[in-house]
Amino acid sequence: MPQLDLTHPIDLGSQHWSAAAVHLQGNIVKPHGRKHTVMFLFVLAQGDGLRAALRDLAAVFVTSATGQQNQRDRIESAPNSVFGNLGLSAAGYRKLGFDQEALQKVFAHRGYTQNWFLEGMKAKGDEWGDAANQLEAFYQKAAVDGYLLLACADECGLLEAAAMAKQRLSGCCEVVHEERGQVLEQNGLEYEPFGFRDAISMPSVLTTAAAPPPHNAETLLFRDRLAGQSNCFGTFVVYRKLEQDVTGFDRAAQALGHVLGLTADEAAARIVGRRKDGTALVTDFSQDPSGRVCPLQAHIRKVNPQVSARGGRIVVPLYRRGVPYRTDKTQGLLFLSMQQNIATQFGLAMRDWVNDSDFPVPGTGTDSLLGRPGGVQNWNGISHDVGRHVTFRGGEFFFLPSLAFFHSLDG
Ligand code: HEM
Repeated sequence: MPQLDLTHPIDLGSQHWSAAAVHLQGNIVKPHGRKHTVMFLFVLAQGDGLRAALRDLAAVFVTSATGQQNQRDRIESAPNSVFGNLGLSAAGYRKLGFDQEALQKVFAHRGYTQNWFLEGMKAKGDEWGDAANQLEAFYQKAAVDGYLLLACADECGLLEAAAMAKQRLSGCCEVVHEERGQVLEQNGLEYEPFGFRDAISMPSVLTTAAAPPPHNAETLLFRDRLAGQSNCFGTFVVYRKLEQDVTGFDRAAQALGHVLGLTADEAAARIVGRRKDGTALVTDFSQDPSGRVCPLQAHIRKVNPQVSARGGRIVVPLYRRGVPYRTDKTQGLLFLSMQQNIATQFGLAMRDWVNDSDFPVPGTGTDSLLGRPGGVQNWNGISHDVGRHVTFRGGEFFFLPSLAFFHSLDG
């Protein structure tokens, strides 16, 4: 059986890929591409039959990478096709009977003793400035064991599948929370709630990536050592519900514009690092070392600085799969990123860049969109605080196991 080589990008035409793709969940190497989503967060029931019930749930609702490809080929004739991902938290694995020692071995990254996945997101709360009293009531409570994400191009199709899934979920767990997401589109382009084009800079592990160069598969895939067979992979997921105060952001952009002598839109572009239409202020940051054109604390410059604190080129890919949400009163982003190692990818970006007010140079300020704590940023010699208009409302770390893992669960 040909094994997928993680030290290279993935060639979709290769036998190695075909053999691995039947076991790998979809939405990992390629976004599922559907407009409407529902995310059921659940707590597993204790007792006999749990493992078999989860196995059966996965068999019905999880779409493999191969299945996703087949759906894509037929998408025009089947716009109602429903896509599904099933993820488990460390608490979920424990409920399934895996003890801490076993999990430490299974989810160990070479060279690292700390295991962020097993510790869970709440352990990072202080470091990331995730104020516990700002979490939504649900997210303050007990640990979540997993999530089922369903996605469909058609809203009615999604609601129908969601009702079926809910019934089926009741066989093995309690759905403790539900998040609805919807891609915000204008003329076929994706936007986020502050009004900026999104999903432009999307790293890829595919040799066919439109924006080269592709990354090696080892930046995204992690061997699923519980699958019971080789050639099975999963990925680690960071999920963060981030509420966006759109009015507050617009006011902040206006105030910044006033201070810098710019229009509100030009000032907003300096907070994000791209204009609302998606054009970058600077594409190669080495051409703008002092941040005169694109401020050093602009969001896209903090999360992908291109140059490390030591001056070398650095790329830390985060495979973003988030979707906006909106309720009567609030809106924001159901942020999801996939990566091979939470600590050295998402975690590094948060600690070394987003929340480090002295990166890349002392006095820069934290990421002007996300950084914690807040405080003033340096806008070309002018100190100004744009305030904080993104609030963390809750989240967790998950693993998206291989289909072979679910299949191996017995009664
Ligand atoms: C509500 C919160 C957020 C908003 C409104 C937001 C907004 C944006 C926008 C408008 C872009 C430009 C579009 C693009 O390049 O695809 C972007 C890019 C990006 N964001 Fe965020 N973002 C948010 C949260 C986060 C978080 C939590 C992270 C992870 C630390 C993150 C990481 C990135 C990355 C890696 C890019 C691509 C940068 C590049 O390579 O140019 N974002 N974000």
